[in-house]
Amino acid sequence: MKIVIVIPTYNEAKNIGRLIDVVGEEFKKMPQHSFSVLVIDDSSPDGTAKIVEEKSKQLSFVHLLVRKEKNGLGVAYTHGFKYAMQELGADVLIEMDGDFQHDPKDIVRLVAEIDNGYDYVIGSRFCKGGGIPRQWELKRRLFSKLGNLVSKIILGVKGVNDFTTGYKASRVKGFVDTIDLNNILSKGFAYKMDLLYKMHKAGAKIKEIPIQFGLRDEGSSKMEKNNLLDSLKVVLLLRLKDKDTQKFLKFCAVGFVGLITDAGLANIFRITILSSKNAPLLSGFIAMMVTFLLNNFWSFNEFKIKGIGSKFLYFIVYCVSSCVPIVFRAYFVGFCVNKFGNSFIVFNIAFFIGIVVGLVWNFLVYSKIIWRKK
Ligand code: GDD
Ligand code: MN
Repeated sequence: MKIVIVIPTYNEAKNIGRLIDVVGEEFKKMPQHSFSVLVIDDSSPDGTAKIVEEKSKQLSFVHLLVRKEKNGLGVAYTHGFKYAMQELGADVLIEMDGDFQHDPKDIVRLVAEIDNGYDYVIGSRFCKGGGIPRQWELKRRLFSKLGNLVSKIILGVKGVNDFTTGYKASRVKGFVDTIDLNNILSKGFAYKMDLLYKMHKAGAKIKEIPIQFGLRDEGSSKMEKNNLLDSLKVVLLLRLKDKDTQKFLKFCAVGFVGLITDAGLANIFRITILSSKNAPLLSGFIAMMVTFLLNNFWSFNEFKIKGIGSKFLYFIVYCVSSCVPIVFRAYFVGFCVNKFGNSFIVFNIAFFIGIVVGLVWNFLVYSKIIWRKK
């Protein structure tokens, strides 16, 4: 396989030359693969590019891309990825920092898991065996951990504990090459979460391996001040744009339309053609039909039910399953009122819990049974 180590640099003149040498030594441990190092430098004023250029004259595996100005880590990496895929024919891309915070010895371990069939290997600081520098102040530790916890809760990618790590290996074919690198959600450090989530959505088999994140050898960090807010923005955008979230929001909107239809029609029928007892019966039935059709042609239109026979059959399933939470709610409210007293608070809390259970139940039945890939 062709493996390209992509290293973005900004003012790493004191590190990059040595790093290239050390990384080059690691390559010799894996003669079955062919390696390149691609440095993307944003015209660092300290002359980083010059050093890399000299290196590339001695070592054929070294490549350099110079960008006109400093545009952020996300922009540098996506530019580097495209170059590595198109010009260097990369099968695997490895993201790595240019300041020795990532131990070059870990390259062998990253590649080994790609060889084992994983598509996305994450060097994780927050799993068993991984770690961050002991010297880090409490604030930085807390930020790093908290940021990852928030990402984990909102994005919930199974088996991933480090969403922002800068050390990882990605398989190109079927994965990175399916991602639109021209439309990443952040120009800065938060691009990492975007790529991670998109790799996950592309169906990548993900493996976390523990890494010890070291201290920078020379120079200083280029992390932007707005990184925290930018990351939060990316995480929320990813969640909102997600297909399942969209489905759920549409499902809720349809439920609301159903409620209005039901209440509106019940009142109209009551004062026109029906008794107060029968009006809600007919309005309820019509509301069911309306929501079924709206869900079919809008919320879950990806798996639209075709044909009148199937529609009829699934409509019955829809009606029956929708009754389950209503009946459950009645019993649940009755139980709570008996147990904790028949007060306004108890009744309404129990009622509200019943509604939430109903939402979850209905969404699961609709998305997993009625409108699923058949
Ligand atoms: N070309 C380019 N352009 N390179 C950049 C830019 C940029 O705008 N910003 C940073 N870099 C380079 C640095 O020169 C370094 O090689 C690498 O990207 C990482 O940047 P650092 O400034 O050393 O980041 P850090 O150590 O503070 O942040 C680390 O932790 C983050 C999350 O906790 C890195 O590992 C990040 O990758 C990681 O996301
Ligand atoms: Mn660093």
